[in-house]
Amino acid sequence: MGKQHWIGDVRAGAHDGAQVELKGWVHRTRGSNKIWFMVLRDSTGVVQCVIKRESVGDDAFEALRTALIESSIILRGTVEPTEREHGHEVQVSSGEVVGPVNPDRPFPITESSMAEADGGETEFLLDNRHLYLRTGRMTTMLKLRSTVFGAIHSYFRELDFIEYQAPNFVAGAVEGGSTLFEVPYFGRKAYLTQSWQLYAEAAMPALERLYTMAPSFRAEKSRTRRHLTEFWHAEMEVAWASNAEIMEYGEGVVRHIAKTLLDERSDELSELGRDLELISRYADNAYPRMRYDEAIETLQSKGVTVEWGQDLDYSKEKVLTADFDVPHFVTHYPRITKPFYHRPDPKEPKYVLCHDLLAPDGYGEILGGGERTWSEKEILERIDEEGTPREPYEFYIDIRRYGGVPHGGFGLGVDRVCAWLSGANHIREVIPFPRDSRRVTP
Ligand code: 4AD
Ligand code: MG
Repeated sequence: MGKQHWIGDVRAGAHDGAQVELKGWVHRTRGSNKIWFMVLRDSTGVVQCVIKRESVGDDAFEALRTALIESSIILRGTVEPTEREHGHEVQVSSGEVVGPVNPDRPFPITESSMAEADGGETEFLLDNRHLYLRTGRMTTMLKLRSTVFGAIHSYFRELDFIEYQAPNFVAGAVEGGSTLFEVPYFGRKAYLTQSWQLYAEAAMPALERLYTMAPSFRAEKSRTRRHLTEFWHAEMEVAWASNAEIMEYGEGVVRHIAKTLLDERSDELSELGRDLELISRYADNAYPRMRYDEAIETLQSKGVTVEWGQDLDYSKEKVLTADFDVPHFVTHYPRITKPFYHRPDPKEPKYVLCHDLLAPDGYGEILGGGERTWSEKEILERIDEEGTPREPYEFYIDIRRYGGVPHGGFGLGVDRVCAWLSGANHIREVIPFPRDSRRVTP
């Protein structure tokens, strides 16, 4: 890489008294005709650089002094520890502008546009998302997000799961037709997949333990703080597994994510104002389980109008999770609330052997999974009772025709987990280019 020195290392004291060459972008400036203070930013942090006319010469001084916010810059100099803001300063001996910013078109995101958004997002910031990515809060979110993705991979790989890729163009729904994205496909209709699951089940007899992280697509018309039309989905599938066993994995991966964030990103969590005690609680404690019927009773006792047989939408999950201190599983939803692939409970077939994991403090569902309907007879019954045509699912039914076995899995909404663990108000805050019913740009 054409870069040897990082501002994060300067700040950590790795280069005290030494010569460095810093490459980065102008974050903030102030000064006079003789001395110019430039706060330089790179991906690892910011540090103040002191540029004196007498040290760098007139030409370099003028070039650097007139460089606007977000110009790219190279500065060379000596690192000095100080009592001031960043603990370190760089006394600059030479420097140059690499990519200037035109004064007729200064960087549009200013402190006041950020203040107006108040840690959230305005249409202005969403329109300028490509530039907003380099501001502090967003950069921090992207780092947290990377750690969440890494933690999910390491969790499954440690347990000998095989990473497996399914197609994104598909012929049928997984999670119901109302949120299917239709795409013209050479004179036919195809859809963008809502989930990796059905094609993962096809590989279940080959791999037995498999997982992925991939985008899923849902034509969600309503814009809520937890819905995207393109979201990142961590899914897993396991042969021979029961609902209870799948829940162990679900709890395991979420606790592992919380633990990894604490180990690797505690500074970033604190920067975002997240209480580390809370994250430790999510990492260290078991997640309680309750049945759907109990959730309905709890909601009714809180005065929520809800009847047995209704799915728990966001408004209900919000009330239910308001006083949870850790995520809770809700299991055994009524058969009529869930798609055909959910396996009816052999003991009480009006329920299915499934679970949702609901995050506390009103965040609600972050994961959904369960046992799959695995016999040919039962899957045909479930498809027919739903009124779904069998034709696009012939491959899926075949999985049952040739050595069907009990199996199950779950899907975890990665963006939802990032939003919950970072304490974001809206799911848009944690993904670089959020997609919803009104926005596919920039
Ligand atoms: O509950 P869902 O719909 O379950 C499935 O898709 C299963 N096929 C998964 C499986 O068993 N393999 O979606 C799973 C999770 C939800 O719990 C939620 O966290 C997330 O995906 N999710 C969304 N995240 C953001 N925006 C959306 N529109 C989402 N829809 C679902
Ligand atoms: Mg769900």
